[in-house]
Amino acid sequence: MAQTDLYIDLLKRVLANAHSPGLGPRMRYLIDCIDTSVLRPTRLERSPRDEAGAIKFDRNYFRELEHFEPEAIEGVRSDPGGRYWWEHNLSFPFTMISPARIDNVEHAVRTVVADRIPGDFLEAGVWRGGVGILIRALLESLRESDRTVWMADSFEGLPAPTHEADRGLALDANWMLPASLEEVKANFAGFGLLDDRVKFVEGYFKDTLGDLAVGPLAVLRLDGDYYSSTIETLDPLYDNVSPGGFVIIDDYGFYEGCRRAVHDFLDSRGLTPELISIDDSGVYWRK
Ligand SMILES: C[S@@+](CC[C@H](N)C(=O)[O-])C[C@H]1O[C@@H](n2cnc3c(N)ncnc32)[C@H](O)[C@@H]1O
Repeated sequence: MAQTDLYIDLLKRVLANAHSPGLGPRMRYLIDCIDTSVLRPTRLERSPRDEAGAIKFDRNYFRELEHFEPEAIEGVRSDPGGRYWWEHNLSFPFTMISPARIDNVEHAVRTVVADRIPGDFLEAGVWRGGVGILIRALLESLRESDRTVWMADSFEGLPAPTHEADRGLALDANWMLPASLEEVKANFAGFGLLDDRVKFVEGYFKDTLGDLAVGPLAVLRLDGDYYSSTIETLDPLYDNVSPGGFVIIDDYGFYEGCRRAVHDFLDSRGLTPELISIDDSGVYWRK
């Protein structure tokens, strides 16, 4: 593997927190099991299993973790609600998207560069910035010096739901979702990737995206969860997407409201692109 590819491969593992067996969902799962003596049904699907299909539950492994991570273990134990877990970045420090959706971002960037599709990259809904970090690293490794990474977010979480399709989601009340601009910038800087080719668009999409001085986009990635956040991104920015550019919808499978927004938008334009499935939630199409 070329050295630049090794760099990107390692970066993806770090962004997905897949490089460290000591942290992440595996540890959370083990602690839950041990503290409650219950196998959590919501996590069963994702839990490792032995050949006979039984959940693997390894106490010795946990003891080693306790030895190396005593403060983290104590923090998690003393807060079963999970706040410590998220605030200390123990699970998904940079991105919450799946490895398949991380691979899809890489695929989109490499493809538009190879096909010479003009334009920048914009993600609407960046959380801790991991997707932008990957895109900025890919541009560096591909020696693409003329493209900018735009990161649009309130940097204080989602607004209260306004559209009826979003009612009941109440993601504005989810304390895990806000990631401040300072935190996101620090994450870019931590990888040596914070420079003037990363631009931050701070505020709610309805206030920022309509007047954004952005030119052509090679990749537009939507990850704002709500119907309103999805339509407030597609309406003002779709026309900026270059022919052959990628439109990626992270929440298509997870949220009915997001799905409806995509189809309302496409119907309003008379567009019928083939939506390509990435995993159980993400889809994309090329314009
Ligand atoms: C699910 S998170 C994004 C996950 C991120 N792409 C990642 O890689 O982990 C949703 C983000 O969208 C932002 N967001 C959602 N709706 C928004 C809106 N209408 N205006 C501004 N930001 C919004 C939230 O602040 C949050 O950071």
